[in-house]
Amino acid sequence: MKLVKTLSAIGLALAAQLAHAQAWPERTLTWVVPFAAGGPTDAMARDIADKLGKQIGQTIIIENAAGAGGTIGATKVSKASPDGYTFLVGHMGYMGAGPSLYKKLSYDPVKSFEAVFRFPDTPLVMLVGANSRFKSAADLIAEAKSKPGTINFGNAGVGSTSHLIAALFEAKAGINVQPVSYKGAAPAMNDLIGGQVDAMFDQSNTALPQVQGGRLRAIALTSLTPMPQQYPGVAPLADKILPGFEAATWYGLYAPAGTPKDIVQKMHQAYMKALSDKAWTAKMSSLGIHLLSDAQYGPDAFAKHTASEVEKWRKVVSDAKISID
Ligand code: MLT
Repeated sequence: MKLVKTLSAIGLALAAQLAHAQAWPERTLTWVVPFAAGGPTDAMARDIADKLGKQIGQTIIIENAAGAGGTIGATKVSKASPDGYTFLVGHMGYMGAGPSLYKKLSYDPVKSFEAVFRFPDTPLVMLVGANSRFKSAADLIAEAKSKPGTINFGNAGVGSTSHLIAALFEAKAGINVQPVSYKGAAPAMNDLIGGQVDAMFDQSNTALPQVQGGRLRAIALTSLTPMPQQYPGVAPLADKILPGFEAATWYGLYAPAGTPKDIVQKMHQAYMKALSDKAWTAKMSSLGIHLLSDAQYGPDAFAKHTASEVEKWRKVVSDAKISID
C-alpha cells in the first residue's frame, strides 16, 4: 500500500513537471547579466535575448546583478528556482576561472547549472585613450619594464575576462601593471576615456564603436590573426611581441540545476532558429564576434566545454600565478 502511494506521488509530480514544461513559457523570462549595463556581456545578452524572445513569444528581461567579477550574479542564479524562467549569462571568468580564483565560491559551474547554449566567442582588444602616449603594445611593455607598477589597467572586476587577460599578458610579457577593478567593462571604459586609467582589454563588440568613434585607440589584438575589417593596422599580440598569445571570451546561457530538460531543448532550438538569420550573424561578424559551428552551440557540447575550461583555468591560474589578493 505504501509503495502504491509513493509511486502515485512520483507519478503526480512527474505529470505536474511535464504539464509545466509543455505550457512554458507562460510569462516573462529573466536573464541575469552579472556586470553593469552597457558592457560586452550585457550587449551580447540583450541582442540574443531580443532575437530569442521573438522565437519563443515572450519578453526576456535583462537583470544586471553586478559585482565580484560576475560571481554575485552567478550565485544568485544558482539558488533560483529551476522553473525555466531564470537564467544566467555566464562567461569564461566566473564560470571557467572562478573556482580557481575564489576560495569560497558557493556554486559549481558544472554541478549547480544546466548548460543551455553557447554564444559566439569574442576576441579582445587592448585599448588606450585617444591621446595616450602608447602607440603600440611594445611601447607599453617598454615603459612597464622601465617603471614597474606605474601603468594601470582597468578591468570589469576580479576574475573578469578583462582582468584575466591583463594578468596573462603581464605574466607572458614579464611586466607588472596595477589592476583597477570596476563592476563591469562599461564603467572601466568610461574611466579609460576620461584618462583615469591607462589601458584595458575589452571585447571586440563594445571596443569597436569607441575606436571607430575616435574616443579610444586599439593598440593590440588577442586574436591570432589580424582583423583588418574591424581594426585595420592593429597587430595581434601573437605577431612578434608574444608569439602564440591567443584569447577570446566564451559566453553562454545557463539555467539553475534541475531545470526541465525539455525547456533547455526548447531554448536551444529557438536559439538555433534565430541564428539561421544570416543578416544577424553577419552583423555580429562585422563587430569582430567569432561564430562557431552549430554543434558547438548545443547544451551537451557547452556543458563539456564548461567542465574542460574549469580544468584549463586551474592550470593557467597556477602557471601564471594569477591571484585575487
Ligand atoms: C569582462 O571583462 O569580463 C566583461 O567584459 C565584463 C562586462 O561585460 O562588463
